[in-house]
Amino acid sequence: MHLRHLILLANRLLLLLVLILMSSACSENDPVEIIELEEEPLFSHAMFPIGVAVGDLDLLKNDAYFRSISIHHFNSVTAGNDMKMDALHPQQGSYSWSNADYIVDFCKQYDKRLHGHVLVWHSQVPSWMESYEGSSDAWEAMLKDHVQTVVAHFRDLVPSWDVVNEAFEDNGTLRHTIWRDNIGDDYMAKCFQWAHEADPDAILYYNDYGIPYHDSKLRAVLDMIDDFQHRDPPIPIHGIGLQMHIHHDIPFREAIQATVDSIRARGLMVHFSELDIQMNQNQVYSEFNDALDLLQAERYREVVEVYCSLPASLRDGITIWGVSDADTWIRYFFNRLDWPLLFDEQYQPKAAFYSTSDALSDCER
Ligand code: XIL
Repeated sequence: MHLRHLILLANRLLLLLVLILMSSACSENDPVEIIELEEEPLFSHAMFPIGVAVGDLDLLKNDAYFRSISIHHFNSVTAGNDMKMDALHPQQGSYSWSNADYIVDFCKQYDKRLHGHVLVWHSQVPSWMESYEGSSDAWEAMLKDHVQTVVAHFRDLVPSWDVVNEAFEDNGTLRHTIWRDNIGDDYMAKCFQWAHEADPDAILYYNDYGIPYHDSKLRAVLDMIDDFQHRDPPIPIHGIGLQMHIHHDIPFREAIQATVDSIRARGLMVHFSELDIQMNQNQVYSEFNDALDLLQAERYREVVEVYCSLPASLRDGITIWGVSDADTWIRYFFNRLDWPLLFDEQYQPKAAFYSTSDALSDCER
């Protein structure tokens, strides 16, 4: 055969290979039909990332609405479970990346930011860590390995991390966790340093709930920031994640504002990292109604307005903790009916969706 024919044949084979790879990639990455949605993308109104938590990978893969809304309305993603310690590190010495990597690929395919949640927490810890036995040095080495292996695995893919989650009690004392009890009170500073070593470009967060509810918890977080910033050299901390699992009535707007202002005064970024607004804490309602719809819409507006009071340089995003009221964690975690999210059980936008869009559009640039 002539060389020319050989080259032609090789080219054709290459083309065939590319086509096969492309078609298998498409069917794997878009396992369901993508639904065209009418509303303008929520994130298109905002100058900062608008995120969604994907708590159940099965929904992202197989539920056409869940997937389509995630793609269309959000430009940031947080893994609701798949990057926690038990998910990534189920056995000592063995990491399990496949679910988290699926989310990474999804974010690459659809150009979403991926916020890392979470490196160190007292919950969703694998049982081998819970029952680990060793000296304080051994505990430290074990946790350092986890933090640095995870951060290194996602380096260049995950620009920001919740390094430590929920380390304080509501009364402001440091929570007793396996980490604190085995490594010592200064374990948090170490975690931030380890994460920073593994990825010096990563934006590092302390993340917690209930900070605007409890003055003493806010005080403790601010004291931690002041302590980290005043050490020589300073401990690298760049932001505070306020989870914002809040209620239609509490905490008051003023308390959320005061919390945001005090973080801003320290020059740290703020991520409203897990926003949902519960309407039925006292289980008064058995169904959602128009009055609740409007009340919730006003509350979402208020939250966005407070967020928008931050200077642009300190806004790192608002993440909604789920897509629809059918998939909210509130229902199964607290075992009660509630409607905390922007889309109803049929994945239709609620009044809160529109008030959030409006408030984002009105946000000072
Ligand atoms: C929740 C998930 O949404 C649930 O699916 C899981 O069963 C429990 O954890 N604070 C956090 C999140 O930092 O990781 C939690 O996510 C909600 C409270």
